[in-house]
Amino acid sequence: MSEALENLFSLQREIVVVTGGYGLIGRSLVAGLQGLGARVAVIEPQVSEARSTAAFGALARSERLAAFAADVTKRDQLEAALAAIKGRFGPPTGLVNNAALDSPPDAPISENGPFESYPEESWDRVMAVNVKGVFLGAQVFGAAMAEAGRGSIVNVSSIYGAVSPDQSLYEYRRESGENFYKPVAYSASKSALYNLTRYIAVYWGPKNVRANTVTFAGVFNNQDQRFLEAYARKIPLRRGKPHLANMAEANDYVGAVAFLLSPASGYMTGADIRIDGGFMAT
Ligand SMILES: NC(=O)c1ccc[n+]([C@@H]2O[C@H](COP(=O)([O-])OP(=O)(O)OC[C@H]3O[C@@H](n4cnc5c(N)ncnc54)[C@H](O)[C@@H]3O)[C@@H](O)[C@H]2O)c1
Repeated sequence: MSEALENLFSLQREIVVVTGGYGLIGRSLVAGLQGLGARVAVIEPQVSEARSTAAFGALARSERLAAFAADVTKRDQLEAALAAIKGRFGPPTGLVNNAALDSPPDAPISENGPFESYPEESWDRVMAVNVKGVFLGAQVFGAAMAEAGRGSIVNVSSIYGAVSPDQSLYEYRRESGENFYKPVAYSASKSALYNLTRYIAVYWGPKNVRANTVTFAGVFNNQDQRFLEAYARKIPLRRGKPHLANMAEANDYVGAVAFLLSPASGYMTGADIRIDGGFMAT
């Protein structure tokens, strides 16, 4: 096999920043990218050895993994993290903008209520992390990549950013007396990432910095049985894992992100990879 082919999917040369790396999907991306050879810098607002061990187990002690404290909505904190990452690993070659806020199903009803009364403050909070945080992350880490003449930015979107949430999935909650609607801000924020990404791809194309989105569907996380039954009907793909109710496992997303960070995707920019079990194919 030629050397170019051998290294096609390799992450051995990559120094990858993953925001929100302690979260449900973040943990799995961090472990997966590290396992595929990358050095991985986790960004979270609060970092500690205990938190890293809780997220990554024994892997937290790996030489190729470190966590850096920064709130993605604060440019100065991201700049301090960049300096610390350069000191520890060298300049980053990859960025996964994964950190985001969603309103959990058990959030107060003011957060998950009708569109007409969705609170402005919640809109601002979600937009700040999910859009401004991605913009600032790209500004700070992407600029370092542009300076080095190579890099790959992966922005994590959602099927709910590509289409509206199907409110009928939550009908069971309204039937049981709750005035529940999947809120608007998350959808609007995830939708904004598609053109933010295309902007960056065009702007930094001449500097060999690529930018793409990944569009994920829902991950199994012990959701309510009635939700799972309704959601399962929206997913064509059956994998013989009935306990997941056709939802994704966090590990399902590692391959696409690794591909976008590897030489194999070297000519791919301004594009989207959707991994959704066929949710949007129907
Ligand atoms: N879980 C799903 O079903 C699902 C589906 C589609 C897309 N996604 C997307 O995948 C990504 C990860 O989702 P998840 O389910 O793992 O979320 P999560 O809530 O489990 O994790 C998010 C992480 O981001 C961190 N974070 C929040 N605000 C931050 C800030 N200001 N600065 C830095 N870090 C911050 C949190 O501490 C947390 O560890 C998100 O972009 C989400 O929109 C998730």
